[in-house]
Amino acid sequence: MVTLLGHRALGDRLKTCFIDNGLMRQDEPRRIQQIFADLGVRVEILDAQDKFFAALRGVTDPEEKRDKGITEVFGKLVRECGAKVLLQGTNYTDVEETVAGIKRQHNILAQLGIDTQEAYGYKVLEPIIQLRKPAVRAMGEALGLPQELYARPPFPGLALAARVIGEVTPERVALLRAATVVVEEELQGCPAFQYMAILHEDKVTGLRDGKRDFGHQIEIRCWDSTDAVTGSPTELPFEKLRTMADRITHEVPGVVSVTYSITPKPPSCIEAV
Ligand code: XMP
Repeated sequence: MVTLLGHRALGDRLKTCFIDNGLMRQDEPRRIQQIFADLGVRVEILDAQDKFFAALRGVTDPEEKRDKGITEVFGKLVRECGAKVLLQGTNYTDVEETVAGIKRQHNILAQLGIDTQEAYGYKVLEPIIQLRKPAVRAMGEALGLPQELYARPPFPGLALAARVIGEVTPERVALLRAATVVVEEELQGCPAFQYMAILHEDKVTGLRDGKRDFGHQIEIRCWDSTDAVTGSPTELPFEKLRTMADRITHEVPGVVSVTYSITPKPPSCIEAV
């Protein structure tokens, strides 16, 4: 949304890059590029997958993943682009949770006393920092963004890395991405605020074709919420849960167990990392 806002203010003087960190939904970079091309905004895709995966190698601590794995790599890439100012879509929930010490959202810097000019060599402009999700959506609609973009479930800035418990490797992300496709296809159009698949670190014993199969566990979460500050699990029909479990265990290689989270936020969080 800030891309469109910036484009309205600056026109072609705004340089728009989509940093492909290798952690996005299936086909996301190209899809975003196409949607913006239709709106007359040129988006350049910067392939930085190797850099992010290198920084995430061996990292299992959630806060370290956010800081060393995402924020720092992102900061370096922006500086390498030669940008003097970064337009960033930080919203109010991001700030609140970080300042309260709940979770360091990857895009919060100034509010933690970090001078981006000094640390990264550029200034950060945050035009929607006072807004929560409903207001952000109203603004997206007013700016003429397609509904497909402003009404879709939120997706965190650190992307699928927020949903991999334990080490984030290209293989584990690929597995989670495939499970995410199933969850998003099955729950598309349902009135929940947000839904997702999460890959657990522990493997469990399963049974396939009469043989022991020691495999992965996927957890599905689906949230009722308005602004992500609090949330409760959506009471999905059991048949729908069964369909998702069935599809994931058949379509995603190596998964032998699918669970559904029934814990509200708090004490849970929306994302797992
Ligand atoms: P949590 O997991 O903190 O999520 O209950 C609240 C909302 O914030 C999103 N989220 C993030 N967004 N950078 C972001 O841009 C982050 O580091 C981040 N962590 C969580 C999450 O998707 C949910 O909508």
